[in-house]
Amino acid sequence: MCGIFGYTGSAEAADLLIEGLSKLEYRGYDSAGISVLNGDIHTLKSAGNIAKLRERRSSVDVSGTSGIAHTRWATHGEPNETNSHPHHSNSNRYSLVHNGIIENYLEMKKDLIDKGFDFKSDTDTEVLVNYIEHLANETGKQPADLMPEILRDVKGSFAIALMDTKNPGVLIAARKGSPLIIGLDGNEQYLSSDPLALAQHCDSAIYLENRHYAVIAPGKKPAVYNERGLEIVAEVAVIDQMKDQITVDKGDFSHYTLKEIYEQPDIARQHVAESFQNHHILPELTHLKKELVAAKRLVVIGCGTSLHAGWMGRNYIERLAGIPVVVEQASEFRYGEPLLFENDIVIAVSQSGETADTMEGVRLVSSIRDLPVIGLCNVKGSTLYREASACLMLNAGPEIGVASTKAFMSQVLMFFRLAMHLADLKGYNAHEGLLDDFKKLPNLIEKTLKFNEATHEIAEKYKDSENMLFLGRGIQFPIAMEGALKVKELSYIHAEGYSSAEMKHGPLALIDEKFPTVVVATDSEQEGKNINTVKEISSRKGKVIALVQESSTRLANEADDYLMVPDIHDMLAPFLATIPLQLLSFHFAVLRGHNVDQPRNLAKSVTVE
Ligand code: G6P
Repeated sequence: MCGIFGYTGSAEAADLLIEGLSKLEYRGYDSAGISVLNGDIHTLKSAGNIAKLRERRSSVDVSGTSGIAHTRWATHGEPNETNSHPHHSNSNRYSLVHNGIIENYLEMKKDLIDKGFDFKSDTDTEVLVNYIEHLANETGKQPADLMPEILRDVKGSFAIALMDTKNPGVLIAARKGSPLIIGLDGNEQYLSSDPLALAQHCDSAIYLENRHYAVIAPGKKPAVYNERGLEIVAEVAVIDQMKDQITVDKGDFSHYTLKEIYEQPDIARQHVAESFQNHHILPELTHLKKELVAAKRLVVIGCGTSLHAGWMGRNYIERLAGIPVVVEQASEFRYGEPLLFENDIVIAVSQSGETADTMEGVRLVSSIRDLPVIGLCNVKGSTLYREASACLMLNAGPEIGVASTKAFMSQVLMFFRLAMHLADLKGYNAHEGLLDDFKKLPNLIEKTLKFNEATHEIAEKYKDSENMLFLGRGIQFPIAMEGALKVKELSYIHAEGYSSAEMKHGPLALIDEKFPTVVVATDSEQEGKNINTVKEISSRKGKVIALVQESSTRLANEADDYLMVPDIHDMLAPFLATIPLQLLSFHFAVLRGHNVDQPRNLAKSVTVE
């Protein structure tokens, strides 16, 4: 999703800005631009990727030591050069970049047109920059002093960075919903939507709180204000520990996504080692022990892949700890009228910790009842990390591929550990053989990756499909859903995840020889039922790819093709089943010639609703 970057100091800003934007690329975008101040504002914009912006850098004079930059993920208007940010005000006094959505921009635009302003783009951003110009002219106030009014009257969720020709070197940053961070490096200061883009320059940062704004200038301490315009003492966070995570390169891999798929054995190794070291207790939850012991129900919210991890979590927590769990799409939860009771605990799952719907869900909880909110999150310092009562860090390292792979693995592992923690509090013993196999899991994930070539062959065979169905029952169902999502995201093949039995209530009508089905059938207890599913599809001429444990030869033989995972305890098989489905999606995408790491139209961090 959109990314903001800013710099003010003594170095040439343009290169730093373009470099900063390249660190935000992974969030997903379709155009980019920078503005640098040098007497006037000089702006360079380009539709398409940052490489195009870089190519054009020498054709435009963008010298100067302060500037703002933006990667845009189109919401209002096509992803063309005119609509890309930064946007200037009519007089060219101001330049603005903006993340998020301004909900009342049409009324504002109409008013401004009546007052004589004109607009070149379709964006809400150009409206805001002219609104600022209009307010400044009308009131005679400095732009920073207008921020309380902007935060109050401009509706929606947004983050902005503003540059003013009359205040050289000064950048104004404001946040209402969407994240924004001030990076500190001696006399130089930065702005970024994401700590990833700051880590190479800065040791410390100020995470702007919601509805706060700041004024930064070289050599001066950032001045941070609350929504009433009162200066506050902002907490300075250390970002040093992130530096070793910032190896944002692909190593020997062709794509980040592939690299991240191959990082999963190590992620599992870390979880398993920590779990055994701590006797399957999560120390981060110590201060919530009373609430966890009393918990009558868990309510899990998340979006996309994180939602699927929540469904896996439900399976583990209900089966191992006997606590009822409801799982809701955060987007539905926040607009519903959720019934929350005493002794409920809310779990918010988000790789980025910034997804707008998930965060609004978290805020809705606190407006209804004072309940603990446990975050499962991969980004230290993110909004979820800071707003949750406790945060279980996924420690998967930065995930650059837009479609989530390793974070999903880590989320499900964390849910499994949470289930064991809760089982311990309830005095339940772990299922027989489960812990022994949990110990073996990292090596078995590694072994599963060795079947990559077989997955590639299946991808070759089915790559021209227009539709696919992914079926699973019980604990395999969320994996089927996640498999379908991955195929959709990466290969653009229309894919649906369904519960195996529900298939008879509709999707079976779709099946013909051109509509392949993947049956996730790694639950050996369910072998008989899974064979029936395969037969039901085969007898309608549908092709079946069965995903099975190695010893399930009967099931494999019933299908047209099979993908295999090593034998493991049925409850842990979903971890292994995840791998071939990720690889299948990856190979489909490569074979169909798609941008694997940045699928069209998608964004990594969805900070608008
Ligand atoms: C976007 C990403 C998905 C991700 C979802 C939720 O749609 O493309 O990969 O699963 O957001 O993101 P979160 O950061 O909250 O896990």
